[in-house]
Amino acid sequence: MSDVEQLTSSKLGTKQYWDEFYNLEKNNYAENPNDSGECWFSDSGAEEKMVDFLVDEEEQGQGESLISLDCKMCDLGTGNGRLLFSIREGGFTGHLTGLDYSQPAVEFSTKIAEQEEMENITFEHADFLGDAAMWSTGNRQWDVVLDKGTLDAIALSDIKYEGKTGVQTYPHVVQHMVKTRGVVLITSCNFTSDELVKIMTTDTCLKEWKHVKYPSFRFGGTDGSTVCTIAFKKE
Ligand SMILES: C[S@@+](CC[C@H](N)C(=O)[O-])C[C@H]1O[C@@H](n2cnc3c(N)ncnc32)[C@H](O)[C@@H]1O
Repeated sequence: MSDVEQLTSSKLGTKQYWDEFYNLEKNNYAENPNDSGECWFSDSGAEEKMVDFLVDEEEQGQGESLISLDCKMCDLGTGNGRLLFSIREGGFTGHLTGLDYSQPAVEFSTKIAEQEEMENITFEHADFLGDAAMWSTGNRQWDVVLDKGTLDAIALSDIKYEGKTGVQTYPHVVQHMVKTRGVVLITSCNFTSDELVKIMTTDTCLKEWKHVKYPSFRFGGTDGSTVCTIAFKKE
């Protein structure tokens, strides 16, 4: 395993942590419907940046990718589903799917979708890394696959999939979930842009396509930002 893939495991990499986390968030929401819970990377405005990227590509992309108003999108490790709700509010009308291996997260996002009358969105209980064979047919492939913070959580897990770490498994599964000319849009705080590109493009049919810009700082002679968002395209 390369240095890029090796992160120390932590409780954020366990299903039990996420089950407890989303059970609590679900209960908070039942008491106060204005509280739809944690928005990961809100300090960086990552959710807005991802939605803006999709909107800009739809408006100006000139058919370079499969991003269109009615395209089908899938959010990996969707949590409370907020990213998908924001995408819908951004004008995208196609079917949206949120996957999560935490059943409380699925119940929570489904509840919010009902309350907010969000249509044409499905939340499914799945460990997408464990169900790799599911993602090779047309109706189980998407135009756009999204990830905000899920690869980061997977990198903190010590679960093995047929002897491989989650990070080693991830790009090889995700490349089958997206259609040719489709886009995988990932936001990470645990990996630098260079590391994320290496993880996603080594021995896969995913190509580094576009980087979303964030305000950067300069430290020790190197430019950096707290998160990175990169779009990969399947060729
Ligand atoms: C840091 S949270 C991010 C949640 C959401 N994307 C957001 O931005 O609010 C990581 C999410 O990934 C989910 N997750 C982690 N590993 C997973 C796996 N192998 N399959 C499906 N979901 C997973 C967790 O249950 C959790 O909801």
